[in-house]
Amino acid sequence: MKPLVEVAIVDVCRNTRTLPCRKMVIADLGCSSGPNAVALVSIALETTRNHFLQLQHPPPEVSLLLNDLPYNDFNVVVKSLVVLRQINEPIVVAGVVPGSFYERLFPSGSVHLFCSSNSLHWLSKAPEDLRIKQIPAYDIDENVRHERLPVVAGAYTRQFRKDFTLFLKLRGKELVPDSRMVVSLAGRRSDELVTEITHVWGTTAQILGVMASEVNARL
Ligand SMILES: C[S@@+](CC[C@H](N)C(=O)[O-])C[C@H]1O[C@@H](n2cnc3c(N)ncnc32)[C@H](O)[C@@H]1O
Repeated sequence: MKPLVEVAIVDVCRNTRTLPCRKMVIADLGCSSGPNAVALVSIALETTRNHFLQLQHPPPEVSLLLNDLPYNDFNVVVKSLVVLRQINEPIVVAGVVPGSFYERLFPSGSVHLFCSSNSLHWLSKAPEDLRIKQIPAYDIDENVRHERLPVVAGAYTRQFRKDFTLFLKLRGKELVPDSRMVVSLAGRRSDELVTEITHVWGTTAQILGVMASEVNARL
């Protein structure tokens, strides 16, 4: 995502309408707590610094905000953020924003760049119709699984559409007009359900299923 974040930052910095107060807010949604947590905001910060250095203009003050669900290990995240703050130019203020990205997280018109890597395939909930009928996402019985595949895939597709539309509406309110959003998530180009990706998940699910039945047998 590095080149995409770099282009987005340069666009935001070039646009005088988006940075009239020379203050910039950058947020990562679904940051997690490993080394990746600060990867995208670090790229954004570095690009901002280089851009203004080249122009020989003072850089804007930057707020870096990292979001994830409340049970994320924010203690680890905060320690990485402190390292980023030690860079003197530009002034960097860093913080965490616990909460779901399927809710409002930031004030209206306040964010200049949203990044999100590999997080938006996490839905807000399992599809209601499957939950009511007690249909699992992955049935251990292969025949049942194949029979139900269109129903299950359809329900998850509808839930994803609902969630993603909501996500875009919420972020649309929070973004400064003319600013940018860079997101990545796993996807598939064709309607064909059996692809390399589903094979990988199928095998993983089978292994987990076997492990679960072995544990059940021992109990
Ligand atoms: C696969 S990790 C990706 C982490 C990191 N962005 C990366 O690229 O390595 C997905 C992250 O999204 C977070 N997540 C899932 N649903 C979320 C939601 N509704 N709101 C905020 N974060 C969410 C998870 O807690 C998890 O940390």
